[in-house]
Amino acid sequence: MTERIVLAYSGGLDTSVAIGWIGEATGAEVIAVAVDVGQGGESLETIRQRALGCGAVEAYVADASDEFANEYCMPALKANALYQGHYPLVSAISRPVIVKHLVKAAREFGATTVAHGCTGKGNDQVRFEVGIQTLGPDLKCIAPVRDLALTRDKAIAFAEEKGLPIETTKKNPYSIDQNVWGRAVETGYLEDIWNGPTKDIYDYTAAPEFPPAPDEVIISFEAGIPVAIDGVRVTPLQAIKELNRRAGAQGVGRIDVVEDRLVGIKSREIYEAPGAMALITAHKHLEDITVEREQARFKATVGQRWSELVYDGQWFSPLKRSLDAFIDDTQKYVSGDIRMTLHGGQAVVNGRRSETSLYDFDLATYDTGDTFDQSMARGFIELWGMSAKVASGRDIRVAGQ
Ligand code: ARG
Repeated sequence: MTERIVLAYSGGLDTSVAIGWIGEATGAEVIAVAVDVGQGGESLETIRQRALGCGAVEAYVADASDEFANEYCMPALKANALYQGHYPLVSAISRPVIVKHLVKAAREFGATTVAHGCTGKGNDQVRFEVGIQTLGPDLKCIAPVRDLALTRDKAIAFAEEKGLPIETTKKNPYSIDQNVWGRAVETGYLEDIWNGPTKDIYDYTAAPEFPPAPDEVIISFEAGIPVAIDGVRVTPLQAIKELNRRAGAQGVGRIDVVEDRLVGIKSREIYEAPGAMALITAHKHLEDITVEREQARFKATVGQRWSELVYDGQWFSPLKRSLDAFIDDTQKYVSGDIRMTLHGGQAVVNGRRSETSLYDFDLATYDTGDTFDQSMARGFIELWGMSAKVASGRDIRVAGQ
């Protein structure tokens, strides 16, 4: 029987050519797998037809936008996940959900190998292949760009020679990956890290320099998950989309960074993630009033480690699973409302309320009604400083010898 390969298919030039390219190089039949993670653009049906037109024997298409929002974006939100303090893991969280569908399609169509369009220099190849190793350990992986010498020029020549139903003239100088959690732009002119991003790079956000009137929004959370916007119930997907629209109009969530790839390269990235950044900001502020101090401090380091694991392709790893359990436990009381103003590139919180808040007005107030017994502070400070005081006494004694 002819061998079968499932290919992660975007509908773009490179993966469209990859269908025939893999076929010619390996003799295998190719099944195209397209997954909707809220990237917008063409319909799944259009993409399916193109895959078949490019020679795929079957096309598997899946609308995973709710699945992606519920099971991938929400854990990232609960973790306040920002790799290196900046990047909300846009591409990193989409790979595992695509992997799930690739493995499912491989089983359905009896494929032995999974293919993807990544180069050999990035993180995404690692995320795909480590994910495949975990969910389908018997499956092999192949990357035509990396393993079968499929360059851009060869792709264009191949598409033209075979008359593939795909445009080869539209030249985009950037490598772009996008989904409902955000958009990532790299390469080309941006590789000179002194060059500022040009206007044409952005798509999810309007220029923050010329914002419309300030937009005040109330986001309601239950156990760390957004459940209503301005009092209207929403699903996680709807919450992200609505905030992409409203925060995007204000230019919120533009990020320009040089980040550390897993393969050891530092690379320049432009991100725009208006919904994600507005949600993370609101969520963090709600945690500030609902999560106990020591738990909150520890959670910040857990969130950072979680982000590194996910960035590094360890979504399905045991440590990531254990950290999820910790993070979920911290979210029990993260319920309530955050009021924030979106304006001129900023999402600024200016009000919070929660039935499960730890903010105690009577303890905090400097006015009458104060229930905090200030006389306790002296003894507390005495003991709190004791250990360092004893050590500094020793330092003075030793220095004097
Ligand atoms: N550097 C980011 C990451 O590794 C974004 C990668 C985007 N991928 C792309 N093909 N443009 O998560």
